[in-house]
Parts: sequence; structure tokens; C-alpha cells
Amino acid sequence: MKVNGQPTRTIWVETAPAEGQPGRVGIIDQTRLPHAFETMTLDTLEEAASAIRDMRVRGAPLIGAAAAYGVALGLQGDPSDARLGTVYNTLYATRPTAVNLRWALDEMMRVLTPLPPEEREAAAWRRAGEIAEEDVAINRSIGENGLKIIREIAARKKPGEPVNILTHCNAGWLATVDWGTATAPIYLAHEEGIPVHVWVDETRPRNQGAALTAWELGHHGVPHHVVADNTGGHLMQHDMVDLVIVGTDRTTANGDVCNKIGTYLKALAAHDNDVPFYVALPSPTIDFSLHSGRDIPIEQRGAEEMTHVHGRTPDGEITTLQVTPDGSPVANYAFDVTPARLVTALITERGVVKAESEAIAALFAERNSRTAA
Ligand code: MRU
Repeated sequence: MKVNGQPTRTIWVETAPAEGQPGRVGIIDQTRLPHAFETMTLDTLEEAASAIRDMRVRGAPLIGAAAAYGVALGLQGDPSDARLGTVYNTLYATRPTAVNLRWALDEMMRVLTPLPPEEREAAAWRRAGEIAEEDVAINRSIGENGLKIIREIAARKKPGEPVNILTHCNAGWLATVDWGTATAPIYLAHEEGIPVHVWVDETRPRNQGAALTAWELGHHGVPHHVVADNTGGHLMQHDMVDLVIVGTDRTTANGDVCNKIGTYLKALAAHDNDVPFYVALPSPTIDFSLHSGRDIPIEQRGAEEMTHVHGRTPDGEITTLQVTPDGSPVANYAFDVTPARLVTALITERGVVKAESEAIAALFAERNSRTAA
């Protein structure tokens, strides 16, 4: 998608590996947005791992792509079996909830393990690049499938009346390699000239909605309002939301959806107000090994995310301020689970599917049988 009119992705090969010259990976440092657009270069396994852990890159699909490139970085100069194990374990330990991390690491292992060590470095760069490209294509297809839903709602509206979409967290292009999941249908609808308006949940504590979703929608001219996290229920009661579209970090085989903390409350409000609640997801986010959302590991992050807020002062300095009293303990659960019964449907790259075991298994039969085997 575009930043200041320039096509930009969230991750790229900064320097391709060549004889005697290691490869390097470029990322957008998302901890600096929306106040500063800064890129940084990753040279080592440790830098890739800390970029994921510290959320310089974040969002389930981007975490997967960053991990794949992290493997390529980590094998440079030592593609041995022992190193491959270290690289896998180091990256796997970065964040627990987004299953795209495990998916991407397993995919890299599947390709690399059978190869002789001397062939692994080139193969790792190749497969990481493919994973990134596949993410872009998948999200574009999610967009096309979700666009049909937005078109249908727009057709029932008076001419010029916008389709109001509520989203939570950032499941936009910044959370993927490009396009986003929840935002892909929105961008395509906007490009097609359908009037859309997005309610952007601020998404405490890290404010991914206020900082990232609002930033990217703004750069694309998509009309939106940032709302406090608890506003959605009120908007839905007053017919100000036509549909909810969120992303997910892990969806289980039965359709339970794990996403950023607060998603569940939006699903409850949507259910109570007959507002359709859609989840946009690429197939690597489906965990066919789990059959209940209760089994998903929920990340708990540091207290500082709760006790402090980041922002920009009037003189342009990006700073951090404490909002809680000294000594108040905090609990920082990063994700929650929305039960499948509250989900209208899943928008995938292969089509829109009910959040039910049989329907999901039928749509992704090959993934399902691989897990069962
Ligand atoms: O903690 P984050 O910022 O990585 O959480 C991101 C989300 O919860 C997104 O909604 C999810 O990863 C889907 S991204 C397409």
C-alpha cells in the first residue's frame, strides 16, 4: 500500500545475499508510528527475534513473514542442523499467540531440513521470499471475497450513504506484508468508489487502532473516526455500524477466533444488536491442531504497556507518560477468544465460510488431513 504516495511493504530484502556478502532485511519500525515513519535493517537472528518480541513488526501474518526471514538471517554462515534448531527455538519463543509464527517456522523446516547444509542458505531466502509474496496474494483474495459482502450492503443503502464498518486493533497492511486482512475488502471497496466509513477502536493498551489503523486509512483517504475502545456497543445500538470486520491471531479448527483483547466484547455487542461480525483471515492463521479456543495460549505482556502511554508533545518530541498511580499492579492480557457462535462468517482467501468445523475442514481439506496424519 502507499505511504506518501509511494508503494510500500512492511518487510523486504534490503540487500540480497551474494558471494561473500550476507543478506539484510528491511522493516518499518511500527513502534514509531504514527508520529515518525522510520525503517530499520535486520542483520542477525537476534535482531529479527527482538523486532518481533518488541513489536517493531507485529500482526499475525507479518510475524510469520518476519520469522521466515529471521531463519534466513540466522542460517547465514552456519547452516548446520544444530543451528537450524537454535534458530527455530529462538524465533518460536518470541510471541506465543499468533500461530502464523509456528506455521512459517514449520514451513521453513519442512523445506530446509532435507537439504544438505550448503544448500540451505539460498533455499531459506527463497522460501522466505515466497512466504511474503504468498501473503500478499492471499490478502488480495481475502479482499475480493470480503468486497462482495460490502457491495451487497452498499446496494441496500441510499445513494452516497456510506457502509459503516467497525474494526478492532490493526489488521491492516501494517499487520501483513501488504493489503491487510480486515482492511483488504475496505481498500478494494474504497478503490471501487463504494462510500465506506470505518470506526477504528483505539485498542488499548498499545493503541494499534489509534496509531496504526488510523494512520494507514488516512494515507489512503479512507474516511474514518477513531473511537474509544468501549464505544462500539453504543454505535451498534444506534444503527451506526453495518458490519464488523476484525483479524485474528489464531482461529481453531472449530472456528473459535482469538484476536486482540476486546474483540470478544465487540462480538457480544454485535450479536445483541444483529450486526454481522466477520473475521478476515489467511489460512496459515487456522490452527487445525486445536478444537477449542480455550486451548490457545494467551500472551501476557509487560506492565509498562498498561501503566504508560506513548505520544507526541506539541513541540514534536515522542515521549512516554505514566497514567496509573505508582505501585498499582496491572494485568495485561493481550488477546481474547470470541466463540465461533458469535462469528457470522470467516472471510478467507478461498471464500466466505461459516465458523464451523465441517465447513472449515472442507474448504482447507489438504491442511486438515496433513494435521490429522
Ligand atoms: O499484538 P499485535 O499488534 O500483534 O496484535 C495484532 C492483532 O491482534 C491483529 O488483529 C491480528 O494479528 C490479525 S492481523 C491481520
